[in-house]
Amino acid sequence: METKTKTTHTLSLPFSLLHLSLLLHLSIAFTPLDNHLISCGSIANTPVDNRVFVGDLTKPNSVSLSSGQSISLTNPNPSSNSIPLYQKARVFTRASSYEFEIKKIGTHMVRLHFSPFISQSYDLNTANFSVSANGFSILSHFGISSTVLKEFILMINVVKFELLFVPTNQSGFAFVNAIEVFSVPDDLIFEYEAKLIGPNGDEVFDNMSKQILETVHRINVGGSKLTPFNDTLWRTWIPDEDFLLLKSAAKIASTTHTPNYENGGASRVSAPDNVYMTAQQMNRDNLTTNAEFNLTWDYPVDLESARYFVRLHFCDIVSQSLNLLYFNVFINGFIAYKDLDLSSLTSHTLASPRFIDFVVDLDNSGVVRISVGPSDLSSLLRKNAILNGVEIMKMVNFMGSEDRSKKISNWVLVGSIVGGFAFLCVVAFTVLLILRRVRQKQKLKKTESMGWTPLQAHRGSSLSRLSEGTALVSPGSIPFAEIQLATNNFDKNLIIGSGGFGIVYKGVLRDNTKVAVKRGVPGSRQGLHEFQSEITVLSKIRHHHLVSLVGFCEEQSEMILVYEYVEKGPLKKHLYGSGLPPLSWKQRLEICIGAARGLHYLHTGLAQGIIHRDIKSTNILLDENYVAKVADFGLSRPGPCLNETHVSTGVKGSFGYLDPEYFRRQQLTDKSDIYSFGVVLFEVLCARPAVDPLLASELVNLAEWALEWQKKGLLDQIIDPYLVGKIKPTSLRKFGETAEKCLAEYGADRPTMGDVLWNLEYALQLQGNGRQRGAHEESGVNAQELPAARVVPRALSSDGGIERDDGDGVSDISGSQVFSQLITNEGR
Ligand SMILES: *[C@@H]1O[C@H](CO)[C@@H](O)[C@H](O)[C@H]1NC(C)=O
Ligand SMILES: *[C@@H]1O[C@H](CO)[C@@H](O)[C@H](O)[C@H]1NC(C)=O
Ligand SMILES: *[C@@H]1O[C@H](CO)[C@@H](O)[C@H](O)[C@H]1NC(C)=O
Ligand SMILES: *[C@@H]1O[C@H](CO)[C@@H](O)[C@H](O)[C@H]1NC(C)=O
Ligand SMILES: *[C@@H]1O[C@H](CO)[C@@H](O)[C@H](O)[C@H]1NC(C)=O
Ligand SMILES: *[C@@H]1O[C@H](CO)[C@@H](O)[C@H](O)[C@H]1NC(C)=O
Repeated sequence: METKTKTTHTLSLPFSLLHLSLLLHLSIAFTPLDNHLISCGSIANTPVDNRVFVGDLTKPNSVSLSSGQSISLTNPNPSSNSIPLYQKARVFTRASSYEFEIKKIGTHMVRLHFSPFISQSYDLNTANFSVSANGFSILSHFGISSTVLKEFILMINVVKFELLFVPTNQSGFAFVNAIEVFSVPDDLIFEYEAKLIGPNGDEVFDNMSKQILETVHRINVGGSKLTPFNDTLWRTWIPDEDFLLLKSAAKIASTTHTPNYENGGASRVSAPDNVYMTAQQMNRDNLTTNAEFNLTWDYPVDLESARYFVRLHFCDIVSQSLNLLYFNVFINGFIAYKDLDLSSLTSHTLASPRFIDFVVDLDNSGVVRISVGPSDLSSLLRKNAILNGVEIMKMVNFMGSEDRSKKISNWVLVGSIVGGFAFLCVVAFTVLLILRRVRQKQKLKKTESMGWTPLQAHRGSSLSRLSEGTALVSPGSIPFAEIQLATNNFDKNLIIGSGGFGIVYKGVLRDNTKVAVKRGVPGSRQGLHEFQSEITVLSKIRHHHLVSLVGFCEEQSEMILVYEYVEKGPLKKHLYGSGLPPLSWKQRLEICIGAARGLHYLHTGLAQGIIHRDIKSTNILLDENYVAKVADFGLSRPGPCLNETHVSTGVKGSFGYLDPEYFRRQQLTDKSDIYSFGVVLFEVLCARPAVDPLLASELVNLAEWALEWQKKGLLDQIIDPYLVGKIKPTSLRKFGETAEKCLAEYGADRPTMGDVLWNLEYALQLQGNGRQRGAHEESGVNAQELPAARVVPRALSSDGGIERDDGDGVSDISGSQVFSQLITNEGR
């Protein structure tokens, strides 16, 4: 067997070389972090276009086949034109699964290739089986008699992805020829983008990351077939003619210029160039009058799901100049987008690609009918309407199944990552055993658990994309009288904070909503700018971990912002200086994770990305359940505008949190936020302010001081005394490394917020493994214990020797010196 494998490898080498140039070429465009391409039942690697599918018999790293029972099969009678990938198959005679290691939290594409053939013992045409993905059914009682590619887009946020094949007793076996599981860029699917179309009317569908989408149609309107070779994400696009109702009404438009990607919000990830370079438009050739008509396509869909995700791609390649083309878009007879003006949607650039998402409630017709037709706004001579591309996806689980296997997923996470840490191997092994048992039980019960917990609103996008035409729940103007009433005429007793911008009051609106009312200092020009900036930013976004704007008031030269009231106030208060009960390590991690989610969304969710610019522990608020919400967007800037604004606005932010690189070069990037967040991480760990001018000079700046200890590997010597002995060394190490990376001297060396989020989650998993104390238990710690902990940190280590990360050889004296500094200056 060994020799055979080697021979095959040697033989396939020339092929690999042949494909190398192609690989190099395309890998520049997009290389998925997770990229599992499996040729099932094969010992050889199989090149397909510019990619190589790895034979599952070679036992590829990071993919495993669960026990179950399976057979690898070769087509005994391949036809001359048959694709090599489809000449092999894996047949499952019992429930069996593939498990894929996942490195990137986020949206993934999963493709299953089925191409039935007949062997001596199996006629694959008669297979009847179900497939589930991390416990959620994606194919049920499935079987085919021709080659079929099933494609799913789904969010994975656990480190193991399982595809389970279960034969139904109808046939007794399942099969698959090839599998692709790869990560796609986060901006492929947006959380909050899609407008709901149907009798339920005009709302935005905001749970997209909870959806499993199954591709049903992918159409290059007005263009030719595009193969995986032509597409960044290896998708196939087919022409639209077969779906066009009245072919003579349509006329193909095309251009030879590549699309202008800068301003549209779409990218080559959304669709390949050719989709945007071709379109159908209204055919006016034979018209003598200004007759108005629609171009209409019917796309058949099955009624198994009542909801479909529809993405329409547009690129104005027909207009001679801007703002000439206005048209209406209809889906199933409902107006989906009225007076669509691509010029204004694409920042006034022609030939700039754009896509718009919809979620469609089906009627009983069994089709998704898409029409485009002229708008009343366009002048008589220029009435036209276009469409460049269509994607229709079935929402496999549109009921939005809630995650019930979170706990298990966490175990998996721990179990699979800690392999490197010898001392945890035993734990991991035990966990896996438990897990397997739990899972088997689960399978038996056929619970509909989702293994990927949706990263609650972890991504999102610019609502402004939908422009004025769409109704959105956006913060509105609140009358001044209403605000006076809510705050008891700005009662001093209701003041909950103050800052550069003005004073913050607690208020209660008439409907009993608690709000925080921020009243700007009237007349300040600077303030006005920040006021408007905050309204602009906040009305575009909605996120669980970002404080939301309820409304604003501009009457009587007032500048008032009304926010949701966040019960427990700034994180800083809960860390030091206020006498509030200390937070447990888990709580702190969860708070950091929440804040990181909010910031990740700010950085990546919106079309342009937003830089917060003033991240600090006072701008991270905690709600009644200690859920973190990032606040204060007064200094926020959309990413790309900085070159125009940084000179005039100068360096802003708060001391102790300021990115040194930003300070030096006055150039703002989202990496400046990462730096500030790194400072917050150390603040959370050490429970001391970012700058404390009263301390000895080497201690004044938290970032510098903590980094030194982290680099020496002695971070555990400077942590919040309350936490001594309560943090698992592995969790602390991960956390320390993450904070350290955030504080890298150069922005380019700092991680993205997505990486930070992932690492913090990892740190939480490392902590969560094993004995835990509840927050209550921890906050009930006897105050008398604290001094002891400060002097001899190790003495209190309750976790015992096995989990201590020994060998650092630090004397307790240095620790106590450090802590005594903290004691004198903090007075917690
Ligand atoms: C699979 O078997 C079930 C009955 O067990 C049947 O309802 C279903 O139609 C079959 N699927 C195919 C594709 O034959
Ligand atoms: C399939 O098996 C189940 C039990 O495993 C049995 O109840 C059912 O009748 C079987 N169906 C067929 C079509 O054999
Ligand atoms: C989104 O999910 C929440 C709960 O998770 C639910 O209350 C809400 O109705 C969902 N929204 C839509 C549009 O389905
Ligand atoms: C798509 O790729 C094929 C090669 O597989 C190439 O011949 C063709 O020109 C490409 N089409 C487009 C539109 O880029
Ligand atoms: C338009 O005119 C052309 C030639 O003049 C003819 O071939 C075509 O069928 C006409 N189309 C329609 C929709 O009448
Ligand atoms: C286009 O289609 C929509 C939806 O079916 C319909 O309401 C509208 O009247 C049509 N427009 C024209 C000009 O036929």
